[in-house]
Amino acid sequence: MALPKILWLALLGRIALGTVTDPTKLDACPGYKVTHAKSTASSLSADLILAGGACNVFGKDVSQLKLDVTYETNPSSERYEVPESVFPRPNSDHSATSRNADIRFNYTTSPFAFSIYRASTSEVLFSTASHPIIFEPQYLRVKTNLPSNANIYGLGEHTDTFRLPTHNYTRTMWSRDAYGVPSGTNLYGNHPVYFEHRTTGTHGVLLLNSNGMDIKIDDTGGTTLEYNVIGGILDFYFLSGSETDPTEVSRQYAEIVGKPAEVPYWSLGLHQCRFGYNNYIEVAGVISNYSAAQIPLETMWTDIDYMQRRKIFTVDPDYFPMPRMREIVSYLHSHDQRYVLMTDPAVAYLPDEGYGTLDRGTAEDIWLKAANGSTFLSIVWPGVTVFPDWFHPKAQEYWSKEFEMFYNPQTGIDIDGAWIDMNEPASFCTYPCDDPFQQARDQNLPPPRSTLPPDPNAPIFQTSSLRKRAIDHTGDDLQNPPYLINNAAATLSDRTAYTDAKHANGLIEYDTHNLYGTMMSVATHNAMLARRPGLRTLVITRSTFAGAGAKVGKWLGDNLSDWEHYRQSIAGILGMAGVYQVPMVGADICGFGEPLFDWSKSAFADNRAMLSRAGYNRDIHNQDTSISQEFYRWPSVAQAARNVLDIRYRLMDYIYTAMHQAHIDGSPVLEPLWYNYPNDPATFAIDLQFFYGKSILVSPVTDENSTSVSAYFPKDSFYDFQTLAPYAGQGSIVTLDNINFTSIPVHIRGGVVLPLREKGAMTTTELRKTDFEFVVAPGTDGSASGSLYIDDGISITPKTSTSVQMSFKNNHLTVSGKFGFPTSVKVARVRFLSVSRLPNSVKLNGKEVKKASIEHDGSREVLTVEIGVPLKQGFDLGFA
Ligand SMILES: *[C@@H]1O[C@H](CO)[C@@H](O)[C@H](O)[C@H]1NC(C)=O
Ligand SMILES: *[C@@H]1O[C@H](CO)[C@@H](O)[C@H](O)[C@H]1NC(C)=O
Ligand SMILES: *[C@@H]1O[C@H](CO)[C@@H](O)[C@H](O)[C@H]1NC(C)=O
Ligand SMILES: *[C@@H]1O[C@H](CO)[C@@H](O)[C@H](O)[C@H]1NC(C)=O
Ligand SMILES: *[C@@H]1O[C@H](CO)[C@@H](O)[C@H](O)[C@H]1NC(C)=O
Ligand SMILES: *[C@@H]1O[C@H](CO)[C@@H](O)[C@H](O)[C@H]1NC(C)=O
Ligand SMILES: *[C@@H]1O[C@H](CO)[C@@H](O)[C@H](O)[C@H]1NC(C)=O
Repeated sequence: MALPKILWLALLGRIALGTVTDPTKLDACPGYKVTHAKSTASSLSADLILAGGACNVFGKDVSQLKLDVTYETNPSSERYEVPESVFPRPNSDHSATSRNADIRFNYTTSPFAFSIYRASTSEVLFSTASHPIIFEPQYLRVKTNLPSNANIYGLGEHTDTFRLPTHNYTRTMWSRDAYGVPSGTNLYGNHPVYFEHRTTGTHGVLLLNSNGMDIKIDDTGGTTLEYNVIGGILDFYFLSGSETDPTEVSRQYAEIVGKPAEVPYWSLGLHQCRFGYNNYIEVAGVISNYSAAQIPLETMWTDIDYMQRRKIFTVDPDYFPMPRMREIVSYLHSHDQRYVLMTDPAVAYLPDEGYGTLDRGTAEDIWLKAANGSTFLSIVWPGVTVFPDWFHPKAQEYWSKEFEMFYNPQTGIDIDGAWIDMNEPASFCTYPCDDPFQQARDQNLPPPRSTLPPDPNAPIFQTSSLRKRAIDHTGDDLQNPPYLINNAAATLSDRTAYTDAKHANGLIEYDTHNLYGTMMSVATHNAMLARRPGLRTLVITRSTFAGAGAKVGKWLGDNLSDWEHYRQSIAGILGMAGVYQVPMVGADICGFGEPLFDWSKSAFADNRAMLSRAGYNRDIHNQDTSISQEFYRWPSVAQAARNVLDIRYRLMDYIYTAMHQAHIDGSPVLEPLWYNYPNDPATFAIDLQFFYGKSILVSPVTDENSTSVSAYFPKDSFYDFQTLAPYAGQGSIVTLDNINFTSIPVHIRGGVVLPLREKGAMTTTELRKTDFEFVVAPGTDGSASGSLYIDDGISITPKTSTSVQMSFKNNHLTVSGKFGFPTSVKVARVRFLSVSRLPNSVKLNGKEVKKASIEHDGSREVLTVEIGVPLKQGFDLGFA
């Protein structure tokens, strides 16, 4: 696979003279023309010079640019670009040349315009024709033509429809603490990649740039997509995808951003969390009450409530004393359950209180700096705070050490996973934050002492060995750049670190803001790894940048407890798991904040919400001012929880296998319908139904009080997951009705052999001792296939593993593969669907089997064969 990459670099040079152009007439700008073009089989480089009078629309046009188009790696520039340390560039494929690439580059010299086209068909995928490129110090524009009614997916994080609107639509990238996750606004994370699907193929485009930007899609006078970026370089990756298989583009994207981290098996269990547990007694009570209600609880989480005056790496001695916390952890561990605690990045600025976490960081001088070099102060939960500078060379060591001390198994809290929040970074200080102390008092946050931060000119530890990057921001307006992105906060620096705040390596927040959460994620992943070397980590973050999934998982943030947010969360999860390569993703079941929603008084008590996130993290989390939403609080919700968790746990190895595959090659774990039906336009906009793995179609009820759902069934064979009755999809919308509040419509897509556990369990440890039951669901051609991956579920490099392929054809199932992982578990039985009569003969490895039975009750036709074959060997099972 070739990954042709287009790289644009600005040369800092002469600024052109010219008159300012009306911002609504950007297409009248002159653009550039090509000079000194040099091309080889694998690259093209050229100088571009302004092709006419400058238009100086949001600043002065840069008069000369350097163009590099390469099928390999990248050079470096004087302008800011996403640092390699944060986003390692993919290994170049040295055999790639323009001749063997699936997609190619074409350009006109004057004015300069380029297009990307599919080599096999010459179909143009991206073209800047008639939209001049604009390159100014604080404004870059590239605009491409799109087909009308383009199917564009991605450009997250957002709460808009999965298929993006094409009329007057703006997506803004600028990490923001976005309480209530409002539609149409910039949210916590930034993934500037889109997939475009056509019936002729699916391709992808990544603009690797971490500066603030607006991406506009509009259909006025032809459909177009326009990047408006306020800094950095234009560093594009075009992904050829495939003409037939939409998931190919996911795998190609994973080549660039990194394949998703493998997660511990236990992390697929149920997690409970709430902001507002008052003390350790309540936390322990929730754990016991889940157990009493017979609802499997794998992991208990605790929010910032446990901290002493909300200082990270502390426990409140009166409410969450360390010995009691340790007791909770040992109780959980002795019951095969786990514990996760919240850690925020901001450290309380209490220089005179002997607060070790602050003092140790100050000693290493690892805090983010204000433009004048003093420590950058902000306000977060504990009041006035400082932010770790993840670019500081000592930051990782500091963070790992804090984790090692506080989360120490012998003396501290032996957590199993980490939850990191507020890492946009979020601040409660409104811009201008001239007096954070006053604002903290006004907001009634614990009053800190008003001593000055350490003198930046007298660092305790030398940091001068750092390579300082000379990014020239002379003359730039960092607070109010001439082009204002559509940030939903008041200004770029409002309620976050200032854009002029400085990092140890000389970079400033203006360029790196969107990377803060991802950098904290990596530091936390490394700190967790240092605590338990060799074991997989679970780190769940709020803010992400492209590539975050290679280390951590994410939850969709602090939304509200209502149906609209529930519906949006499905598209949000599809984006993370299906497009951005962050498959370990979840949303708060029941929502986080507001309104004071009493489920028992509404059909929302149905809680069918749960399975739409089957297999995902942090299922329940709500706010301190909301009512409690633990599942056991209402009988109907408890029943719904038991039902859906039973489905989810039986499917756990199927999804674990999909997660493993994602880790190997980036194949998506969750798929929109069109990934499986790329030629069926009726699927392109669907985002309330989805595939869990490749073969489980989930069609949740998404309206309050409703007992039915309109679901689309492509022309294909399906089977009801619960009854195993066949369901022939007609390529039409059907109404599924009589769905009571404790069940959820789930269908198996024909063509799969599902490795189910024969029943659910209260913990994943118990589940792993439960026998399998294979379900053979033939597709329209009568065949089926599947796979099963098992290992110890926790090691980064497991010593042994089992990797099994199942294949069914002509009434014959073959199970083969590598059976390295020692287990006493058996394949208890195989259930063949759509078998209408008891066969004359059923043979296991050539020998007649006695225990075969048929269920034939008019709607379903299932042949069940009890086999009890240990999962240590392959087998053949056929019938005639
Ligand atoms: C490349 O661009 C030239 C000039 O616009 C055009 O004539 C030619 O058809 C293009 N080739 C492809 C394959 O798009
Ligand atoms: C586009 O959307 C913006 C923001 O919602 C609105 O103010 C503007 O009027 C819309 N323009 C058109 C042409 O619809
Ligand atoms: C646990 O259940 C008991 C008995 O129903 C109840 O009194 C208690 O409030 C519950 N505690 C929590 C934290 O849910
Ligand atoms: C440096 O800048 C910060 C933030 O703007 C300000 O609060 C502080 O007083 C300044 N310090 C000095 C020594 O000028
Ligand atoms: C939002 O809230 C709903 C319920 O109100 C919840 O089920 C869903 O998972 C949440 N997530 C997002 C991102 O909307
Ligand atoms: C759903 O049912 C509850 C309880 O009967 C009622 O209060 C609520 O208004 C209903 N909601 C809708 C949207 O009909
Ligand atoms: C809900 O529907 C399921 C599936 O049809 C059924 O098994 C269950 O008994 C029903 N529950 C109630 C409370 O009606």
